[in-house]
Amino acid sequence: MTAMDGTEPRPNYGLREEIEAFWSERAPGFDEFPGHEIFDEDERKAWHRLLSRHLGPAGKRSVLDLASGTGVISHLLDDLGFQVTGLDWSEAMLRLAKAKAASRGRRIAFRLGDAERILEDDASFDILVTRHLVWTLVDPAACFSEWLRVLKPGGTLLVVDGDFVRQTLGQRLLQRVDALARRSRLVGRQAPALSPDMAERHRSILSRVHFRNGARAGDVAALLGHAGFRDIVVDHRLGEIHRAQGRHMPLTKRLSRRIEHRYAIKAVKPTA
Ligand SMILES: C[S@@+](CC[C@H](N)C(=O)[O-])C[C@H]1O[C@@H](n2cnc3c(N)ncnc32)[C@H](O)[C@@H]1O
Repeated sequence: MTAMDGTEPRPNYGLREEIEAFWSERAPGFDEFPGHEIFDEDERKAWHRLLSRHLGPAGKRSVLDLASGTGVISHLLDDLGFQVTGLDWSEAMLRLAKAKAASRGRRIAFRLGDAERILEDDASFDILVTRHLVWTLVDPAACFSEWLRVLKPGGTLLVVDGDFVRQTLGQRLLQRVDALARRSRLVGRQAPALSPDMAERHRSILSRVHFRNGARAGDVAALLGHAGFRDIVVDHRLGEIHRAQGRHMPLTKRLSRRIEHRYAIKAVKPTA
């Protein structure tokens, strides 16, 4: 049977498949966005400081970069000397990640897989790191138990994420100004924007995920605690990263980034 819009129905096509398809379509332009790829040495150094602050020196430790996308965080971890594996369920993202790593001469392993159901043995990794995944998790409670399983006892999880739903009055005002600026011919360079179709798909996906009201740090930390993580620390000191990113953004986005609810959360798997 063919649907009213002429497309073939997709049996068992669920929210997870929609999320994967959305990111696969975004893959080609993903690295053009400041805040995704790094365009500034100050930003790179600021990330190194954040990662080192929570993970310590690399030693011979292994890291799994969950939902690695084009590998931006994998490269930062590789810079610091960790043995890095990136995992993502989007083949389009993985292709770009592998090509970028090859072009930079990096030995980072990239694998296809679902961060909610990792096909690795128990206690496989010293560290798990993930940026901008938690806010679209379908079942974060089950997922965090899975992350605990693949971590070695005493291993560390580092989540970098944010609330991309709830907006303060200041953020709403800046968004209005940004929309006007995009329509105006008076403004200069603008960051690339999502097409109306992709923006609608983004909104629709977001309305159905667990953190549909925004992934607040306190809620994520509480779920990590329920899953069995301990020594949970919420870190909002991302200012130097955001200031460096802001240099490559239009003024409205730069100002908005300073007041958004963004954070890193470190959590440890107990040894016994
Ligand atoms: C916003 S991008 C972030 C990419 C990368 N972590 C970064 O910060 O540059 C989200 C990525 O998560 C991936 N993703 C989302 N849910 C996933 C899941 N359950 N398993 C594996 N990858 C997932 C998408 O394919 C996409 O590459």
